[in-house]
Amino acid sequence: MITRIPDVNSVRASLQEFSRPLALVPTMGALHEGHLALIREARKQVGSKGTVVVSIFVNPIQFDRASDLSSYLQPLEEDLARCEAEGVEIAFIPDKSELYHDDRSILVTESLLTKHLCGATRPSHFDGVLTIVLKLFNIFQPEVAIFGNKDFQQLAIIRRMVRDLNVPVKITGHPTVRQNDGLALSSRNSRLSPEQRQDAPRIRRALKAARDLNGNGEQKPEVYLEAARKHLLSDAPEDFSIDYLQLVDAETLQPVPKVNRPAVLATACFYGDIRLIDHIKIRM
Ligand code: PAF
Repeated sequence: MITRIPDVNSVRASLQEFSRPLALVPTMGALHEGHLALIREARKQVGSKGTVVVSIFVNPIQFDRASDLSSYLQPLEEDLARCEAEGVEIAFIPDKSELYHDDRSILVTESLLTKHLCGATRPSHFDGVLTIVLKLFNIFQPEVAIFGNKDFQQLAIIRRMVRDLNVPVKITGHPTVRQNDGLALSSRNSRLSPEQRQDAPRIRRALKAARDLNGNGEQKPEVYLEAARKHLLSDAPEDFSIDYLQLVDAETLQPVPKVNRPAVLATACFYGDIRLIDHIKIRM
């Protein structure tokens, strides 16, 4: 385990000396099977001679709600045990003060792909994500970094940052890992009550039901949105609500006037104050 940036620098220098590739898996901890899949992908990418780094840092500047930050689980012992069991060489667990100066005044901002979806309902969230991810890239200079496709908007803006700022790292996305009933794995799932957990697969079911309209060649976005909304809300528990439900172009992430090219139907829903996201591709 490493907590200080100077210690990273000396490890990095010796890896470079022996041309050993480094794969970075940025996380906020509370590691679950979805993260373990990212770690395994990282190992696949760099092989047994490479180094896999998992960073665990609950990045305060990407939280738009104080209650979300304070309730974010931080089971450090379990996380370290999981990293060890997966053969992770370095777990980077810095303090906030190691990463952020009190008078910091630079943020990384993306201004197009963040206009809708989570970018619209969580103002400044992606500035926080891009800023910490770029910092981690600069600290570790990884050959490859792995992110989950579940956060597809996050993945898209990270790819855009790497492209637009010429960051020398390969970005790999990994398919969403789901439970048998379709619920996408998320650290937030463990905060759901048993009743909420039982109900939560409604999100996946609603997206699939809307996506199935695609078989009939449906092109009107409002038809997909209406079908998904109906399934999301039918017999929903009282504490369930939709944060957003949008159909966007798969590349530009802008709402589509007509579904005649690959699109993504995406939603964020609340059970009380627990926010879950999911999406489904609509191929044409
Ligand atoms: O996806 C996450 O867990 C976070 O947004 C990330 C990429 C680790 C940045 O804090």
